[in-house]
Amino acid sequence: MKILVIGSGGREHALVWKIAQSPLVKKIYCAPGNPGIAEIAECVDIDPVHIDGLYNFALKQKIDLTVVGPEDALMAGITDRFREGRLQIFGPTKRASAIEGSKVFAKTLMRKHGIPTADFKVFEDIKQAQKQVTTAEFPLVIKADGLAKGKGVFVCKTPEEAHQHLEDIMKEKIFGHAGDRVVIEEFLSGEEVSILAVTDGNTILPLSSAQDHKAVYDGDKGPNTGGMGAYSPVPLVTQQLQFFIEENILVPAIHAMKRENRPYKGVLYAGLIITSAGPKVLEFNARFGDPETQAILMRMKSDLVPILLLAEKNMLGDAEIEWNDGASVCVVMTSKGYPDAYEKGIPISGLETIKESNHLRVFHAGTAMKGGKISTNGGRVLGVTALGNDLPEAQNMAYGAIGKLSFAGAHYRRDIGAKAMCRK
Ligand code: AMP
Ligand code: GLY
Repeated sequence: MKILVIGSGGREHALVWKIAQSPLVKKIYCAPGNPGIAEIAECVDIDPVHIDGLYNFALKQKIDLTVVGPEDALMAGITDRFREGRLQIFGPTKRASAIEGSKVFAKTLMRKHGIPTADFKVFEDIKQAQKQVTTAEFPLVIKADGLAKGKGVFVCKTPEEAHQHLEDIMKEKIFGHAGDRVVIEEFLSGEEVSILAVTDGNTILPLSSAQDHKAVYDGDKGPNTGGMGAYSPVPLVTQQLQFFIEENILVPAIHAMKRENRPYKGVLYAGLIITSAGPKVLEFNARFGDPETQAILMRMKSDLVPILLLAEKNMLGDAEIEWNDGASVCVVMTSKGYPDAYEKGIPISGLETIKESNHLRVFHAGTAMKGGKISTNGGRVLGVTALGNDLPEAQNMAYGAIGKLSFAGAHYRRDIGAKAMCRK
């Protein structure tokens, strides 16, 4: 088979690495990919939102299955275009990916179908939103409706902060039309977990639990990022809690999407907060998480390709999945300044000193090849991912490898997985 993976981050490197292990696969392409991916796949320089370009490429190369990483490709309608042209693709349609693309849609869906989430109100008019903020209890959370590169959510401690964010989103339009509407919601406290499931629209195949670390500094301090690291499995998610989440969140969400005439196929990612009153949904994503996928795939013993194919063919009931009993951890190394402005083009050293295996991988995220040398090319640069018999072993392996890697201004969190350790 020939497979095309769309995207260029650490998530896509992990997907390509896992897919390359399948005996079913003869050739992998990645658009646009990165230098790490280029070691195992042929990278083609097509932007993930250049849908016609990707479709024509897949048609010409007779690609058997396309796997979509980033949400902007989904929202640009890549799945719809490929299906119209009878090409197999793994990912939800544009209408179905609204579950990630519009917070207002997702929250309204959850309320209508009884899926547990924070209480909320939607505002189109800044004056009404300001009135709400004046009388509300704090802290509260303000969310821009549309995609804002993970920056559209604000936890506000005071009315002054809330008023400022409302001005920025609704008046200054710092996120463009994504800020035409806002959700103002109740603040929830608890630990966050990510539960991802593959689905064909009828059946769900949940993946092992993972926990992201969104804040830039140790101890969950500083601004939120795309994710500074992850581990899997999460001890907090007992089997009983996992079943509860499947029955009360994942299955109802898939059912709700069917009822709304937006049948959902692909990965459904539930970002949850485990409150004292049980799990509640913070957000749904219409795709694999980054960096959760790096940690999750490291533990997946089964071949991923048949699972994706069975989902695409509406036969996911036939799929099986096996996990390594150990633990995995992914620690992300970032450029100085991320998630704000950062420099690019800084040479990375030490990559050749890492002995990679199926227990230790350095997934590339924001890297570029310059004059035969690999340098930084994004905020999140590398995701050092290890699989151990237990979490401390995986942490030792990942941090041991990080000690051998360097670039000027490199930053990483020293506490990836620490929350799971406190629990033991
Ligand atoms: P979201 O994109 O909706 O998942 O929000 C991004 C981050 O903001 C989450 O990972 C949480 O850390 C935080 N957050 C979002 N909604 C809430 C909420 N209702 N209560 C507390 N924290 C929240
Ligand atoms: N790790 C968060 C995300 O993928 O959205």
